[in-house]
Amino acid sequence: MLLEDFPSDIRDYLEPKPQGHPVYECLSCSKQFPTDRLFYTCPSCGGLMMIEDPDFQRLRAKPGSFWRRLFDYRLLYNRQATRGVFTFHEFIAPSLPLEDLVYLGEAHSPVVAAPAELAKEVGASFYFKMDGQNPSASFKDRGMAAALSFLKHLVRIKNLDTVIAVCASTGDTSAAAALYAASLGGSVKSAVLLPKGRVTPQQLSQPLGAGAAVFELPGVFDDCMRVVERLSDKYPVALLNSKNPWRVLGQESYAYEIAQQFDYRLGDIVLVIPVGNAGNITAILSGLLKFHRAGLVERLPRILAVQSERANPVFLYYNTPINRRTYAPVNVKPSVAQAAMIGDPVSFPRLSKLAADYEKAAGEYSFGVVEVNEQAIMESMLLANRRGLTVCTQGGECLAGLRAGLIKGLVSPLETAVLDSTAHALKFVDFQTAYFEGRLSQEYGIVTNPKLANRPRELSFGNLKVPAVNQPLRPDDEDTFVTAAVGKIAESLGLSS
Ligand code: F0G
Repeated sequence: MLLEDFPSDIRDYLEPKPQGHPVYECLSCSKQFPTDRLFYTCPSCGGLMMIEDPDFQRLRAKPGSFWRRLFDYRLLYNRQATRGVFTFHEFIAPSLPLEDLVYLGEAHSPVVAAPAELAKEVGASFYFKMDGQNPSASFKDRGMAAALSFLKHLVRIKNLDTVIAVCASTGDTSAAAALYAASLGGSVKSAVLLPKGRVTPQQLSQPLGAGAAVFELPGVFDDCMRVVERLSDKYPVALLNSKNPWRVLGQESYAYEIAQQFDYRLGDIVLVIPVGNAGNITAILSGLLKFHRAGLVERLPRILAVQSERANPVFLYYNTPINRRTYAPVNVKPSVAQAAMIGDPVSFPRLSKLAADYEKAAGEYSFGVVEVNEQAIMESMLLANRRGLTVCTQGGECLAGLRAGLIKGLVSPLETAVLDSTAHALKFVDFQTAYFEGRLSQEYGIVTNPKLANRPRELSFGNLKVPAVNQPLRPDDEDTFVTAAVGKIAESLGLSS
C-alpha cells in the first residue's frame, strides 16, 4: 500500500524511529548494564541476563487499540526493514536503527486449523503455527534476526574487524546462526558445535552450506553447551545461543503474531510449546506479558509446556509441590524430539521467573507442564502429517502434549489450542523412515504400528522388458510394459474398471 493511502493517524508511525535505551538486567543480582556491547552473563555475578526497556511506560502512553491498528497496518507497508520480527520493532528492539535490521524472510508463519475430523479424534479444536516455514526451517530465525541485527549494529558503530559468532546446537540454532551470519558476510564468520550423530543429516547440511566452521563433538547438546560457554568466557566471540538475550527479544515475535492472528483475543486459547533449552517458552511468556502490560491483549492465553519423558527437567520441577521444588538437571536419553533433547536448560532461571510473573498476571493454572512418551510423539507427528499438517517431531510432541493435557484435565475441550511446529517436518524425516522400517525400537523404545507405516510399493515385472535411463523400449515393448504396470497398480489399489 502506498504511504499516502494509510490513515493519517497511522502514517507517521509506520516507519519506526529508534527510541529508548534498553539495558541488560541480571536475573540474579538485578544490576543493569547499558546495551552498548554484547553480554551473555552478568559481569558482576555471572547470572543470566534479560534485556529490559526502562522506559516501557512510553509504550503505554498510547492505548492498546493504537498499537493493534499500527501493527495490522504495518503488514501492508512494503518496506524490508519493517518486515518479519521488526513489524513489532517498538516491542522488540526499539533502539536499533532501521539500517541495521536484518530480514531474510523470517516470521509471520501461518496458523493452520486442524481438519474437523482430526480435532474430533483429539478431543479439542486446534491449530498448528507452522514455524518450520522460516528461512532455515525453524523458529530460531526469529531470534537470529534480532541477535544479528544487534551484531550488525555493533560492527558498524564500533568499526569491528572480525567477529566470530559461535553456538552449540541440537541442529536448528546452528542452521539459523550460520545462515544469518552468512547474510552479514564481511567481518562476521560463524562456528557451530554439534553433538556428533545427534543432529539430523538435513540439519548438519545447513551450517555446512552456509560456510560455517562446523565442529562435531562427542556427547550430547549439554556437553557442547559447556564447551561453548567456556569458549565465550575465554575468547572474544559472539555467543548466539539463547543465553544471548537479543535472541529472546526476536523470539517474542511468535507471541505477538499469535495475538495478531487471533485478533488480539486470547482468552480461550491455550498455547502448547515444546521445551528444550527453554529459550522459546521464555520468549513467548515475555512477549505475552509485554502485550498485556501495554494493553494490546486484555486476557492472556494459558500455556502448556511439553517435554519428552526422556528429557524432562522442567516437567519434574513443576510437577513437584511448590514448597518442595528444587531444580535439578537430568541425563537425557535418545528422543525423536531430538531438537529438544536437553537435560540442563540454560534458560531455566528465566523460565521460572517469567512463569511466576505469568501466573500473577494470567491467574492460577495459567502455566502447566506435561510430559509425553516417545511412542506418542512419533505417532502424533505421523497423524498430523496424514491430515495435511506438515509438522516436525517437536510439533508431534505438542500434539501428544495436548492429548495428555486433555486427559489430565489441564486443557478443557472448550479451549482452542495453538500448537507450535517449531521446525519443518523434512528436517526430521529420517525418524519417519526409521519408524516405517521398524528401526526405532531399540534406542527409542518405539514400536511401529503397521497401520501408520508406509513404504514404497515395488512392482515386479518378471522377465518382461522394462525401461531404464537412456534405454527406452521399442514401441511394442513399451506398450506391453505400460499394460502390465497399469494392471499391477490397479490390483494393488483395488481398482476395478
Ligand atoms: N523445537 C526445535 C525444532 C528446536 O530446535 C528446539 C531447540 C526446541 C524445539 C526447543 O526450544 O530450546 O527454546 O526450549 N533447539 C536448540 C538448538 C536447542 O540448538 O537448535 P528451546
